[in-house]
Amino acid sequence: MPEKSVKKAILTIENGPTLELPIYQGSLGQDVIDISQLVANDHFTFDPGFVSTASCESQITFIDGDKGILLHRGYPIEQLAEHSSYLEACYLLIYGELPSKEQKEEFETTVGKHTMVHEQLRTFFSGFRRDAHPMAILCGVVGALSAFYHDSLDVSDAKHREIAAFRLIAKMPTLAAMSYKFSVGQPFMYPNNELSYAENFLQMMFGNPCEDYKISPTISRAMDKIFLLHADHEQNASTSAVRLTGSSGANPFACIAAGIAALWGPSHGGANEAVLEMLEEIGDESRIDEFVARAKDKNDPFRLMGFGHRVYKNFDPRAKVMKETANEVLTELGIENDPLLKIAKRLEQIALEDDYFISKKLYPNVDFYSGIILKAIGIPTSMFTVIFAVGRTVGWIAHWHEMHSAPYKIGRPRQLYNGHVTRDYVPLNKRPKAAKAD
Ligand code: CMC
Repeated sequence: MPEKSVKKAILTIENGPTLELPIYQGSLGQDVIDISQLVANDHFTFDPGFVSTASCESQITFIDGDKGILLHRGYPIEQLAEHSSYLEACYLLIYGELPSKEQKEEFETTVGKHTMVHEQLRTFFSGFRRDAHPMAILCGVVGALSAFYHDSLDVSDAKHREIAAFRLIAKMPTLAAMSYKFSVGQPFMYPNNELSYAENFLQMMFGNPCEDYKISPTISRAMDKIFLLHADHEQNASTSAVRLTGSSGANPFACIAAGIAALWGPSHGGANEAVLEMLEEIGDESRIDEFVARAKDKNDPFRLMGFGHRVYKNFDPRAKVMKETANEVLTELGIENDPLLKIAKRLEQIALEDDYFISKKLYPNVDFYSGIILKAIGIPTSMFTVIFAVGRTVGWIAHWHEMHSAPYKIGRPRQLYNGHVTRDYVPLNKRPKAAKAD
């Protein structure tokens, strides 16, 4: 149980008891009211979208959305992006501290040993249609890993959890690149453990057995930054899905497959793909105003993809780093004048100056800029969310591992039931005829 503060919340239920609810203080952030005794007093709380609910205790990541702060194990994301690497951040997220030189080398070597996937797994790919979305493939093959690695499925064994963590972090880029290679009908590339994590992913994506693939340091640095900036983001939809799935004791590969499924939606990780689709739909700078007007129209469901965030009501600190990286990549590739990028820059400017976006605190988010970088690098749009999933895998694992390292309960929210009250079954011949559709 967390430290209890001297403060208490007093809840008086009309015609019912008055309850004293303890208030906990974390090391940072808002105080949290413990409402767990409500159920014994015949009440639940109602909080659609869990906007006011802390689902767990955690020591991994802290976000202050109003101030635009993101810390991993206390370290600001800007410092990690500048000085660290994705694999070092993986170590930090999982073990809680930055590694020593020896620990870093050992961690990187161990990840390297797990980059290949079981040969039998390759046959799974041929069961998919060539035009299958790579997220659909990734969901399937990551879930299938549990059928291959039986020696790392005991979630109560810390060693099993650690091996599963290595396997997932190491194999995700391989599986991601295989999903892409399958869709374009090219042979799968094996990982090359001489290369860094990001370089390896790029060579498995863009290399082929017939010619050498030259890796640009600017591009591989940008790729590493994209992985690092997506590494964790506390209790977002996909991480919560992983924790909830894991709370039933499900194996790690199944849990991460659940995270991938949750990430896919356009309100979450699917947004980076949706940004590019939106830019393509806008198509020309002359149509920007029309789309901005639609985004502001309450009667139109259209939203500017890549803008707004549930938690950040200030500039997303990851977006700031991503914006700088986007500029570096565009300059290196000499494509600052790409028409879609021009539309993106103009949209960004409008959103930062327009009253609607300012008053609702809708800033460009990380997916807005990552989509631009990935397009510039030549990654197909359908792979954008897959890349988010590769980076986020460590966050999912760190949370899953944290949950299993302390006592936990199966996740089981309740509901405000609003359906029919009890009624008697009606036999088929007594039911009214359904109205015919026109
Ligand atoms: N364009 C236009 N209006 C918007 C947008 C947008 N992108 N985002 C929010 N709004 C409006 C919304 O219509 C609402 O207006 P009103 O108060 O008049 O009803 C208000 O802003 C608040 O929106 P909300 O949906 O209640 O806010 P939320 O916190 O539930 O949603 C969000 C956050 C990210 C789902 C939403 O901003 C959105 O749909 N953005 C576009 C999709 C996107 O870029 N998602 C990626 C998020 S970052 C990556 C990740 O963490 O997964």
